[in-house]
Amino acid sequence: MNIPDLKVKIGSIEMKNPVTVASGTFGYGPEYADYVDLDRLGAITVKGISAEPHVGNETPRTFETASGMLNAIGLPGPGANGFCEKYLPFFESYSVPLIVNVWGKTVEDYGRVAEILDGPARVNALEVNVSCPNVKEGGALYGTDVDLFRSVVDEVRSKTEKPIIIKLAPNVANIKLFAKAAEACGADGISIMNSYPAMGIDIETRKPQLANRTGGLSGPAIKPIAMKLVWEAAQVVDIPIIGMGGVSTPEDALEFIIAGASAVAVGTANFTDPSTAVRVIDGIERWLSAKNIASVDDLVGTVKT
Ligand SMILES: Cc1cc2nc3c(=O)[nH]c(=O)nc-3n(C[C@H](O)[C@H](O)[C@H](O)COP(=O)(O)O)c2cc1C
Repeated sequence: MNIPDLKVKIGSIEMKNPVTVASGTFGYGPEYADYVDLDRLGAITVKGISAEPHVGNETPRTFETASGMLNAIGLPGPGANGFCEKYLPFFESYSVPLIVNVWGKTVEDYGRVAEILDGPARVNALEVNVSCPNVKEGGALYGTDVDLFRSVVDEVRSKTEKPIIIKLAPNVANIKLFAKAAEACGADGISIMNSYPAMGIDIETRKPQLANRTGGLSGPAIKPIAMKLVWEAAQVVDIPIIGMGGVSTPEDALEFIIAGASAVAVGTANFTDPSTAVRVIDGIERWLSAKNIASVDDLVGTVKT
């Protein structure tokens, strides 16, 4: 049996395997260190960080659905400087690449957070969230208007030399437009997808299940949506795609890779089993080995349409 090569490159980041965790589902890293050997992961993607500290939304912030969850956390966080002081020292004893997810309320905010995080060497890449459905400003609008989208990517690109990965919104008419715009603005990779704007109502109180009224749907329910978007985007860009949306098994991950993703992220599944990503890595390796496929790269985008 061959031992397949699992390595993946996203810009200058070398991932030893194609599996990371989805932002917001794995804290800032230390919270999961007792349950998972963090250095087994291809990369760690941490919860969204803005230039200034942010409190997030009122509770309830989450609600379980038939095959996934709704959330409207609202991006609480310690701000970029707070993150660097509080969390970066922890990562000095790990070699896993660190991807910091960033967001802003204005184009300038995106630039400021990128500028601050451009400093510390331990931050290996930025994932730019232009697609959060749960904050009033920024997020949703920047991810669905291609001109605003370009202005955010341009601003971030101008403030950092580090690899930038742009996280696309699923609720757009033409994902190819956004994927191509990200690549043209100098992005090193694309993440697809953020949670899908959604809502639930309690019929007794007739109130929305989330204090924010609407939120984002994630988990197995959205996997087929994400698959189509990854497949479409992969047809028009050369930069790597990180596929996400409902990954909880090695087969889910392989499906994304065959659709055109170079790497995948495990999100909501971390809440039921924090070791999901490690199981997914081991399963990908076993499957490639059984099929005698030499490298995970050889599988990317091999869907027979
Ligand atoms: C509780 C929760 C918090 C999230 N927070 C963020 C965030 O801070 N930044 C971001 O870009 N995406 C965030 N997301 C979206 C996920 O990173 C991911 O794109 C989405 O959940 C789809 O993957 P999944 O179905 O595997 O969860 C969050 C998702 C959940 C469920």
